[in-house]
Amino acid sequence: MNVLDFGARKREGKLLTLTTCYDFWSARILDSSDIDALLVGDSLAMVMHGHESTITATTELMALHTRAVARGAPTKFLITDMAFPSFRRGISEAMASVDVLMKAGTNAVKVEGIRGHEDVVEHIVGSGIPVMGHVGLTPQSVHALGGFKVQGTTEEAAEQLVDDAKRLEQAGCFAIVLECIPAGVASRITAELGVPTIGIGAGRGVDGQVLVLHDLTGLQRDVSPRFVRRFADGYAMISSAVSAFQAEVEAGTFPADEETYG
Ligand code: KIV
Repeated sequence: MNVLDFGARKREGKLLTLTTCYDFWSARILDSSDIDALLVGDSLAMVMHGHESTITATTELMALHTRAVARGAPTKFLITDMAFPSFRRGISEAMASVDVLMKAGTNAVKVEGIRGHEDVVEHIVGSGIPVMGHVGLTPQSVHALGGFKVQGTTEEAAEQLVDDAKRLEQAGCFAIVLECIPAGVASRITAELGVPTIGIGAGRGVDGQVLVLHDLTGLQRDVSPRFVRRFADGYAMISSAVSAFQAEVEAGTFPADEETYG
């Protein structure tokens, strides 16, 4: 998979599947899967570090996790989120962050929104770095949006989303994440763009789907947006393994003779 394959997949009508990945061991698992690309999302600030939003993520933190994922998933196309506000401080600061993330081993960066930093996105793309756009519920703007809420529900807001997505395409983005927007708006954007749309809470009329790994594996139970499907109960699996370990230690049945050096 490389950046050109994203466009090819849209033209072929073959859906793309992405998931987040934040660390070495899950990268090892995902490297041997058929998943198309991995996103080192700034959601790691919440999922891995327990923060209430993604705003606390820094370029250094994103680079640290990117390095671990790059070591664990050498065959996968990696996309790393640019931390807020690294792309809002002008081209020079943005490029310094991009430099850190590329040297950490990512193949592309993701930038939330477009208004006010169109020139930055164009400059990054013009420098030879693939950029993925992201519109709709952009979690770095959670305070301005009044919470993690569905976006584009009025006609005016929907028009703005369509316009933002088009501007991202014009700025050179190779794909655009559509997060938490009505399915009809996502389908319209998908039909009007030449680059693929990757939905999360955007219905089926998109060119691909992305979910947070800890959501789709059921490792995370705290929050459950409507768009999440748990394909496994990872939380229960880990809890029961740890309980079994604890019970066997307490009963004196672990370690057994074959687990003990003579
Ligand atoms: O940070 C993230 O995990 C994301 C996805 C939810 C698209 O941006």
